[in-house]
Amino acid sequence: MSGECRLYLVTGNKHKLEEAGAILEPYGIKLEQAPVTEKLEIQSESLVDIALYAARDAYRRIRLPLIVDDSGLFIEALKGFPGPYSSYVYKKIGYTGILKLMEGVENRRACFKTVAVLIHPPIEKVFIGETCGVISDTPRGMGGFGFDPIFIPDGHTMTYAEMPFEEKNKVSHRYKAFSQLGEWVRKSRIKCL
Ligand code: IMP
Repeated sequence: MSGECRLYLVTGNKHKLEEAGAILEPYGIKLEQAPVTEKLEIQSESLVDIALYAARDAYRRIRLPLIVDDSGLFIEALKGFPGPYSSYVYKKIGYTGILKLMEGVENRRACFKTVAVLIHPPIEKVFIGETCGVISDTPRGMGGFGFDPIFIPDGHTMTYAEMPFEEKNKVSHRYKAFSQLGEWVRKSRIKCL
């Protein structure tokens, strides 16, 4: 890789852009919001299929080197729900709805997953990050977004939403996916904008 590398994130979510941008910065990557912010979401059980489809569709529309981040919360006691449907479920019932479903449930194990797809033709690469932990009994914290107030990563007592931005960004599922992506770009010889 030569010089600074500009990549575009297809998202309307400012938090995702901030988190992923901060993770990629040390790798010499400048992440910007793509001129399309809406992802085309197919229905599938697989985050990889969903992210790949959305990334290919976005590339057809903007023809710029881009990344799509598709994430989901997989709760063991709910057989992986909401998983690939996390966005829909969040919009409909939010984290309070999830806490209701988890009332009286002893097994609180859950994992957050991020699939980050990079398209920079002819290259198409998939990076996966996962952080496991537990669902809290009550929502805690004001930071972050989405399900952050109810997720406590392993080895921590705070929810993602209670952690300072930099701390979530050192342990999160997004960190694990995007730091692999950054490492790959640094080592590769792709031409950057
Ligand atoms: P998507 O990747 O935009 O489809 O996100 C799926 C759902 O998970 C959305 O409701 C997001 O708010 C939520 N989500 C994605 N990433 C995170 C995260 O890092 N913390 C908490 N919720 C998240």
